[in-house]
Amino acid sequence: MSRDDLISTNAKIVNSVTRSILEHSKSPIIIVVSNPLDVMTYAAFKTAGLPATKVFGMAGILDTARYRAFLAEALQVSPKDIQAVLMGGHGDTMVPLPRYTTVAGIPVTELIDEARLSAIVERTKSGGGELVNLMGTSAWYAPGAAAAQMVEAIVKDENRIFPCCVNLSGQYGLHDTFVGIPVKLGKAGITEMIELKLNADEMKLLHDSSVAVKSVMDVYDGMGL
Ligand SMILES: NC(=O)c1ccc[n+]([C@@H]2O[C@H](COP(=O)([O-])OP(=O)(O)OC[C@H]3O[C@@H](n4cnc5c(N)ncnc54)[C@H](O)[C@@H]3O)[C@@H](O)[C@H]2O)c1
Repeated sequence: MSRDDLISTNAKIVNSVTRSILEHSKSPIIIVVSNPLDVMTYAAFKTAGLPATKVFGMAGILDTARYRAFLAEALQVSPKDIQAVLMGGHGDTMVPLPRYTTVAGIPVTELIDEARLSAIVERTKSGGGELVNLMGTSAWYAPGAAAAQMVEAIVKDENRIFPCCVNLSGQYGLHDTFVGIPVKLGKAGITEMIELKLNADEMKLLHDSSVAVKSVMDVYDGMGL
């Protein structure tokens, strides 16, 4: 399927499901999973007309889980001990942040050399494709488990911090775009959007990622769906 066919087919489904949600629920919180994730989140957000704290996308937890798994394998440690955050779009413009990656509190940069770390970062970016090649689908256990974690954080009002795809309105100097950033999730949906003090290189990666997402948002807008 071409990118435009994918956008059109999936956006029609996402928009119709969003309209149905609104018919049946007065104050829903909508978590989008369909790909292309950032743009489908935008489609649901536009269709729903709800605040940004109520419509957001799942991708960052899955991408972070892949990153943690690859790191755990390389370092021969449990993925449970790896804390990490990935930002940006879902795909090859995602922004891993080694500066914010720790293994049981130890900065990962003290445990692995730069070349191995960047190979892991690259593998994470194409993690979806790797799975499709192996299994013929990118949707297996992890996306469901990741979405379930988000739902649980909301239902149980846990105030957990996860990277989620959100509509930015000035955070990180970005406006009217949808990229992954760390947010706090509780019973009201997103209760806080967290602004990390990114350095110039990290900020550039995030802005580049946002430009890539925006170009696909423009394609969606042009379809008039
Ligand atoms: N966000 C992520 O990190 C992530 C990860 C993996 C997959 N995905 C995406 O998740 C989506 C689903 O993947 P999958 O492998 O489960 O696909 P799938 O084809 O197995 O399942 C899609 C389901 O949607 C249903 N469906 C189709 N049209 C519908 C409609 N109009 N209303 C209600 N339901 C409808 C189908 O009956 C089917 O059960 C894809 O877009 C995939 O790319 C996202």
